[in-house]
Amino acid sequence: MRTRSIGGRVIELESVDSTNNYAAERSGLPEMGHGTVILAQEQTAGRGQRGRTWISAKGLDLTFSLVLRPTDLKAAGQFVISKVAALALHDVVTEALRTSAGLGGGMVRIKWPNDILIGSRKVAGILIQNELVGDRVAFCVVGIGLNVNSSDLHSGLQSTSLRVEVGHALERAELLDLFLDRFEVHWDRVGTDRQGLDRAYRQLLWGRDQVMDFQLDGLAWTGVPLDVDELGRLVVRDARGGVNAYGLDRLRFERPEGNG
Ligand code: BTN
Repeated sequence: MRTRSIGGRVIELESVDSTNNYAAERSGLPEMGHGTVILAQEQTAGRGQRGRTWISAKGLDLTFSLVLRPTDLKAAGQFVISKVAALALHDVVTEALRTSAGLGGGMVRIKWPNDILIGSRKVAGILIQNELVGDRVAFCVVGIGLNVNSSDLHSGLQSTSLRVEVGHALERAELLDLFLDRFEVHWDRVGTDRQGLDRAYRQLLWGRDQVMDFQLDGLAWTGVPLDVDELGRLVVRDARGGVNAYGLDRLRFERPEGNG
């Protein structure tokens, strides 16, 4: 039993439609306290970003949701939750590569808004659902799908797993534990070291300072990603040197995302 707030309680399910659904449907219950984790061996209707499905091998990968009850987080600043989750996942994947294969962590990147890549292949995704009360986030479900031991990957070359990268199976419980530790560290930084947190995130942004292919309002476009702003929009410099921030409603990377 962990004594720290994140992961203090873990609810393990053999099979569920979606751990995010499970948590969200119980948001009013005291058992869904801050830091509670819902962990499933199998999801029958795992959910990905933008209405996609999230497919995971039963008993091989990590599919879980972490419940947060922030005490004072403005709705407008909710993207910080994604930053914390992405940094924690980055740390887990980097550590797995370092200890298992002696590989450097330089290849692990955060692809805006919610993917973790090894090189250019997706190894993990994040799906966040927030319940607002007034202008505050009252309840948050941070859904994490991390490809750990699966080798039959659904999106071919666009996806990978830790096992594929390091060449042997990894212990899922250890990875989950490390994720919860790292999440807690970065979550604490929201109040104590926000600038450092933002800097760390920016440094790990996939494609930062490089000319990247996008679709802007449905049309092919190129730009140089620089950062992500407080509202979670990607800040991009265009070919004329203009700098603007775009949300997912207008901008997406050209390359299709893995899974689902
Ligand atoms: C994505 O990259 O599309 C986001 C994937 C998020 C998947 C996780 S698995 C655990 C949690 N429950 C869900 O139904 N989805 C998230």
